[in-house]
Amino acid sequence: MTLKPVGFLVVGLGRIGRLHAELLRYRVENAKLVAVCDVIESLARDVATKLGVKYYTNLDDALRDKDVDAVVIATPTHLHKDMCIKALEAGKHVFVEKPLAPNLRDAKEIARYVEKTKLKFMVGYMRRFDRYYARAQQIVRSGELGKVIAFLSIARDPQPPPGWASDPKLSGGIFLDQLSHDFDIARWIVGEVRKVYVVGGNYISEEIKARGDLDVVSILLRFENGAQGFIHGARRNAFGYDLRTEVYCEHGTVFIGNPVDNLSAVGTEKGITFEGIPWFEKRFYEAYINELRDFVDSIVKDREPGITVNDGVKAVEIAEACWKSFRSGKPIELS
Ligand SMILES: NC(=O)c1ccc[n+]([C@@H]2O[C@H](COP(=O)([O-])OP(=O)(O)OC[C@H]3O[C@@H](n4cnc5c(N)ncnc54)[C@H](O)[C@@H]3O)[C@@H](O)[C@H]2O)c1
Repeated sequence: MTLKPVGFLVVGLGRIGRLHAELLRYRVENAKLVAVCDVIESLARDVATKLGVKYYTNLDDALRDKDVDAVVIATPTHLHKDMCIKALEAGKHVFVEKPLAPNLRDAKEIARYVEKTKLKFMVGYMRRFDRYYARAQQIVRSGELGKVIAFLSIARDPQPPPGWASDPKLSGGIFLDQLSHDFDIARWIVGEVRKVYVVGGNYISEEIKARGDLDVVSILLRFENGAQGFIHGARRNAFGYDLRTEVYCEHGTVFIGNPVDNLSAVGTEKGITFEGIPWFEKRFYEAYINELRDFVDSIVKDREPGITVNDGVKAVEIAEACWKSFRSGKPIELS
């Protein structure tokens, strides 16, 4: 029996949406990209022409398209709630980029809609589909290294994100926009977070400061199982993307470092330089394919996707606790 591919619409064709559209067009089995949508008409038209699909400039029109079974929402975070709800109401499965929403109220509202439907819903925390994070999770969760004692993560971006994302009302700020990936991975590998304590400040960008966000933060965590945690995030890093994680356990430590292309190097009297990984598009390219494959598979096989709406809500809860801790200067218990 031949399977009818899942028809996809991608809405929001910026940094990440264009990548999702290309992957759905060329790399994801059982998926068929049928349309793209962006408010910038020239962008929507160009991407549609390049990929050989239809285009829309308005989500309502796009959702009336009968060929669309599922929607990838890759618009700025403050638009996720309305778009997720509209897509679900139109009977479409939804893959929404992280974070679920810029605040807990919106995130919980989305979750209420998801719970009422039988449609599939997934949040794009793609690190879970990266082979190195997945291996670390599997080793730690197997118990072969004993109890987890500490989770450590460093996340420094090469440069601040697009303009809207430096406004915490639109993006949720550094804790959600950037570090919710680390919260998700910490929960996935170690378990639920019980308490956070934050110090942070502005060291990098006048724009981020003027909009009321922070650009360098350090977060201490206590997990429900007693493990400790430390997450450090920065919005700019001189040598590019720096993403490292360690899980220190009773009988050993799991390390996830920065991959380098060790097949290509330049050697001089000062030493050997390997090419690094510039940013997320390249570092997590396989993971972006794998997460979409998982989402399609969840539709085809009628099973729960690898990341649920509840995972999305939990990341927002941790980020809100971080803001409360920063503002009060006190540790905050999660309810
Ligand atoms: N998982 C990841 O690694 C990752 C990486 C980058 C961004 N993101 C997330 O993806 C989302 C988008 O981020 P980005 O960096 O791609 O943003 P971006 O600003 O590069 O792109 C957003 C696009 O959405 C379009 N848009 C805005 N309003 C719209 C509307 N009403 N209808 C249709 N299109 C609209 C804009 O014109 C723009 O092209 C955010 O939630 C962000 O947190 C995730």
